[in-house]
Amino acid sequence: MLEQIKETAAFLTKKFGRIPETAVILGTGLGELVQEMVDKQEIPYEEIPHFPVSTVTGHCGKLLTGKLGDTFILAMQGRFHYYEGYSMQEVTFPVRVMKESGVKTLFVSNASGGVNPDFEVGDIMVITDHINFFPEHPLRGKNDDRLGPRFPDMSAPYSKRLIAAAFEAAARHHIRLKKGVYVGTQGPTFETPAEYKHFRIIGGDAVGMSTVPEVIVAVHSGMEVFALSVITDMGGVGEVIEVSHEEVQAAAKSAQPKMTLIMKELMKKV
Ligand code: HPA
Repeated sequence: MLEQIKETAAFLTKKFGRIPETAVILGTGLGELVQEMVDKQEIPYEEIPHFPVSTVTGHCGKLLTGKLGDTFILAMQGRFHYYEGYSMQEVTFPVRVMKESGVKTLFVSNASGGVNPDFEVGDIMVITDHINFFPEHPLRGKNDDRLGPRFPDMSAPYSKRLIAAAFEAAARHHIRLKKGVYVGTQGPTFETPAEYKHFRIIGGDAVGMSTVPEVIVAVHSGMEVFALSVITDMGGVGEVIEVSHEEVQAAAKSAQPKMTLIMKELMKKV
């Protein structure tokens, strides 16, 4: 795998000229941050060697560099989900490539369902911890010590420094920011009422179908990580309501300006 990672990193470095030290993975309906980037260069995933190709509607897959505010960043617009059929190695391959290319700090965003009754649709939740509920682990198998340790520490996967900075920025801009535990599960079904309840009982505040694999690999490789969830539905709280992909996308879209602002403020701190 290391050879493929190196080949892809070399390709991107050549194409982009220079790879930023800060990267962001943009989740479902959260691609708008890219429109605020200037001096952009972009490469569609299908042109990147060894990259899988994204298949879900609402995810247009490309990798970009450019400036967001004053920070030069790498952005992944659209990610690879486990439910699409990719292996965990494929889902997390871009994170390996980022590390190899010199990325030091990874920002991650996603859309998720709220199971904490204090949350509302449109809220933004800073992820302070996660529960890995995927059926497969991205680090399962022989460990390549050049990529990271066999038994990575997971006592603080989400940067305490950046979490504190996020709350400072939110207070300054009068943004209501929540924090909590993200449960990562395989999907593609949204949860049944009993499953939402289960995720609340085991300590979750929100549930979604991504992020955990990428964060595990980023931590394994020694990157600093910050992640945000946009609460797009409250499937888990109150009366039983239906959840749809369209609704999730619409809610994500309306929360984007807040999310972008917080990311931009934090990127100044890295
Ligand atoms: N469950 C799982 N994933 C999701 C949800 C949800 O309710 N909303 C957005 N992504």
